[in-house]
Amino acid sequence: MQIPRYLFTFFILCASGLASAAADDAADQAQRVAQGKRMYREGILPSGSPMRATLKGDIPFGEGQTACVGCHRRSGQGSSEGQTQVSPLTSAWLYQPRHTGIKKQAFVARGGRQELRPAYTDETLARAIREGIDPAGRDLAQPMPRYDLSDEQLKPLIAYLKTLSADIPPGVTSHEIHFATVVTDGVQPRKRKAMMDVLEAYFRDKSGESGNAAQRKWRLHVWHLKGPARTWTAQLEAYYRKQPVFAMVSGIGAGSWRPIDEFCERFEIPSLFPNTDLPKIADNNYYTLYFSKGTALEAEALANYLRSQPDQRPGTIVQVYGHDEWGASAAQALRKSLGKFGIDNLRDARAAGAKALTPDFWKSALDCDRPGVVVIWQPDPDLQGLKDSACGDKLRGIYVSSSLKSDAFPPVPNDFRDRIYAVHPFDVDKSIRQRYRNIEKWLGAKHVEIVDRRLQANTFVAVATAGDAVMKLDNNFSREYLMEQIEDMGDNTAASPVYPNFSFGPNQRFASKGSYIVKMMTSGVVFPVTGWIVP
Ligand code: HEC
Repeated sequence: MQIPRYLFTFFILCASGLASAAADDAADQAQRVAQGKRMYREGILPSGSPMRATLKGDIPFGEGQTACVGCHRRSGQGSSEGQTQVSPLTSAWLYQPRHTGIKKQAFVARGGRQELRPAYTDETLARAIREGIDPAGRDLAQPMPRYDLSDEQLKPLIAYLKTLSADIPPGVTSHEIHFATVVTDGVQPRKRKAMMDVLEAYFRDKSGESGNAAQRKWRLHVWHLKGPARTWTAQLEAYYRKQPVFAMVSGIGAGSWRPIDEFCERFEIPSLFPNTDLPKIADNNYYTLYFSKGTALEAEALANYLRSQPDQRPGTIVQVYGHDEWGASAAQALRKSLGKFGIDNLRDARAAGAKALTPDFWKSALDCDRPGVVVIWQPDPDLQGLKDSACGDKLRGIYVSSSLKSDAFPPVPNDFRDRIYAVHPFDVDKSIRQRYRNIEKWLGAKHVEIVDRRLQANTFVAVATAGDAVMKLDNNFSREYLMEQIEDMGDNTAASPVYPNFSFGPNQRFASKGSYIVKMMTSGVVFPVTGWIVP
């Protein structure tokens, strides 16, 4: 039978009408989930006002603390602190019958039977959030606030809870977990290889046939970013579209890590310990974990030290830096930190590379009427020119950075031996030797050639931490849960890092927070002249 043309057109119109209605619904739903996410994570209603809640007995709950995330955490997997167990809020948890109750453990241990609470429905969930009563009629324990939310206001929150850790995140399949590591243009090939050797050795273990068949195999993707930094975001997106990854691990870049950090924040991809001295420093960053604040930390530690050493700063503080981002960022941070202490006798001198540190350069850079100290934010500076300059011998101190110092550090002129110091944000003495020994054992066993100890140790810490955290997920694949595993490690890290007092915690994104000031000995050994300075 022939379908009349007008009927056919009618069908098409109906179908496209339905399709656009479905698209509208999907857009509404996405918006509702986004609103619910804001309530959950920030405690802010769609109207922009803060959520309000009370504790039992109508005690108002602290303003600014009503976000669910504060107790149930981002993943919704809950937490336990002392006696208090905060239940998970994932859909897999809520919409199933569960054993609950915080004092139940001891009861069960004594041979008692635990009650089952029925699965939640949207109605019983609303009652739990508003009145603190679960589907079995049990009062939820005290720390769970009672929320002052209308039916309309609850809708987005419940819509969001239904999505919370509900899907397996991109980059995880039934057989594999995908990771990326970023390498940017401008990284020395030697350093790139040093890092890659460690990563490849680790991934070989995690993807080997010898591995447990039930375990997912690890896959590493190298995301090489080319050209200027402003084009990196587009390159990252293209890589991610082609092969989504669960997390990023290690990585190395020339210049600021900011574009990569912002990409991870936008796509909610954990990024564990990139090798960078130029992290993005922001209070509300979540997804990137850094070793330290890099140049900013070094400058702040030095400013603290100079402030505490009045004999080091009656004269002018001259800081020398080049045209690289490292030096500029350190110099800016030092100016700011000294400024906070009211120290403003600081003079900047730009030098194009270590070779430019000639007596002529120093003639214009130094303030010979008020010689004080010199800070050099450059790799391996040659100090001969300073020695041969007009008043170099009158300086009270010469400060360099240990993170820029390589084995190629030029010989220090004899007259400066007792006046050359380094900002040293790493461990020292026996303790650092022990830390390196631990890591070298692993590298040796995997036949990884050691070409840059610190970088390779850091890379190992990054990848071993990822390994440990993935294991602790226990197949609950959620990126936020991964971050929480690392936060919960405290100072119990998977591998021994080159930093003392390395530790994590909720909302901490810089694991090492201090630095020594050391004297540099001719033997290459360093001798701390301060305790661990935490600015
Ligand atoms: C100050 C900490 C805290 C905050 C904030 C908090 N909760 Fe809770 N919540 C708890 C604790 C503790 C429990 C476990 C109580 C018990 O088992 O008796 C709980 C339990 C729950 C339960 C019951 C789970 C079950 O399995 O029966 C739900 C539902 C819940 N919370 C939802 C929320 C929502 C939604 C928010 C944010 C709007 C929120 N909570 C904010 C501490 C908190």
